[in-house]
Amino acid sequence: MSRLNTTDRPYDIVLFGATGFVGTLTAEYLAAHAPGELRWAVAGRDEAKLRALTGRLPRGAEIGVLTADVSDPASLRRLAGHARVVASTVGPYVRYGEELVAACADLGTDYLDLTGEPEFVDLMYVRHDARARETGARLVHACGFDSVPHDLGAYFTVQQLPEGVPLTVDGYVTADAAFSGGTLSSALNQLARGRQMLAAARDRGRHEPRLMGRRASAPTGAPRFAKEVGAWALPLPTIDAQIVRRSAKALDRYGPDFRYRHYAAVRRLPVALGGVAAVGAVAAAAQIPPARRWLSGRLQPGEGPSAEKRAKSWFKVRFVGEGGGRRVFTEVAGGDPGYGETAKMFAEAALSLAFDDLPPTAGQVTTAAAMGNALTERLREAGITFRVAAAF
Ligand SMILES: NC(=O)c1ccc[n+]([C@@H]2O[C@H](COP(=O)([O-])OP(=O)(O)OC[C@H]3O[C@@H](n4cnc5c(N)ncnc54)[C@H](OP(=O)(O)O)[C@@H]3O)[C@@H](O)[C@H]2O)c1
Repeated sequence: MSRLNTTDRPYDIVLFGATGFVGTLTAEYLAAHAPGELRWAVAGRDEAKLRALTGRLPRGAEIGVLTADVSDPASLRRLAGHARVVASTVGPYVRYGEELVAACADLGTDYLDLTGEPEFVDLMYVRHDARARETGARLVHACGFDSVPHDLGAYFTVQQLPEGVPLTVDGYVTADAAFSGGTLSSALNQLARGRQMLAAARDRGRHEPRLMGRRASAPTGAPRFAKEVGAWALPLPTIDAQIVRRSAKALDRYGPDFRYRHYAAVRRLPVALGGVAAVGAVAAAAQIPPARRWLSGRLQPGEGPSAEKRAKSWFKVRFVGEGGGRRVFTEVAGGDPGYGETAKMFAEAALSLAFDDLPPTAGQVTTAAAMGNALTERLREAGITFRVAAAF
């Protein structure tokens, strides 16, 4: 792999979609926490909105402003050519995301996003991974609550277990939070595209090299009462388990035979059953265009939970890891998962790609494979807990 030299670009980081709900939180986070030497710009389709944003930020006059629109590929190429790292919040990604990934892969620009859409990630692997490997670009999807705490939490757990032996890790997610218009729109869009999602996964399977001499799996677990965490465990069919499995494929530290299962943990059975029924109803409604439009209209793009609601929101992911005669309980926890902490994870991941001394990787890579412990340490310093609760 030979990385294209991008050090002469005008910006270390360009934040595309900076005027959206998470984009604004990410811009505020960077303005408050990034090192003084960071050269960065906000980007979007509306220059007046971008200037209003920088006008509200500390040292806003030093932040660049770039305009680009997803319907204008030349503008996206210009944007990718101006940065060492591009961070995009412009979703639903399966609808809006590909041209920017293509431009970054082609120009050797590191790229990260907040997608939780498996179809998009699989399509980008098939279409742009090879070019990104040639130019040295790192394409890192799912750099928000999907899937940073799960991916880095599983990696943290693995590192508490012996090396060179089969390992199992189960992740149990609990959270209290609300979501934004952008998230609702992306989730409904993905739920309505079950067929396309399966086709993209199959196509990826045909292109991806087989793992030789090791195994990494992420089977869907069965619903059960999990004594280990004292809660009902419901299989969680999000992108997270796929991301953890890809990290296990990429890194030998996960051992010769690794298995990950991903659950929502719910203390009371009626709440668990209510949750399953609600998710089933939304998934069914997403298949019917008028019902999908009605649901989507409940929250507009740019809208999201209030600062008060976000201040009361929290998440906790508990992991149970086993292997080589050892059992370990670990935990990743923080505040508002979807927005406050997502903006933090996203901004810190962009800073990590821009400034940290990381293992040499290229192409489509996970947060654990691309940034691993460097990102975990950044998040710890920024207030997200990674801890060993017990070990036997
Ligand atoms: N992984 C996670 O845990 C997580 C958490 C939160 C959000 N997300 C995802 O992040 C994405 C953004 O969420 P959000 O709530 O911030 O959404 P949002 O408020 O609707 O923001 C979307 C952004 O996209 C921009 N945009 C839309 N069309 C565009 C175009 N044609 N050209 C250029 N920019 C365009 C918007 O620009 P304007 O301001 O000009 O309209 C806005 O900046 C969603 O896909 C959501 O699912 C993921």
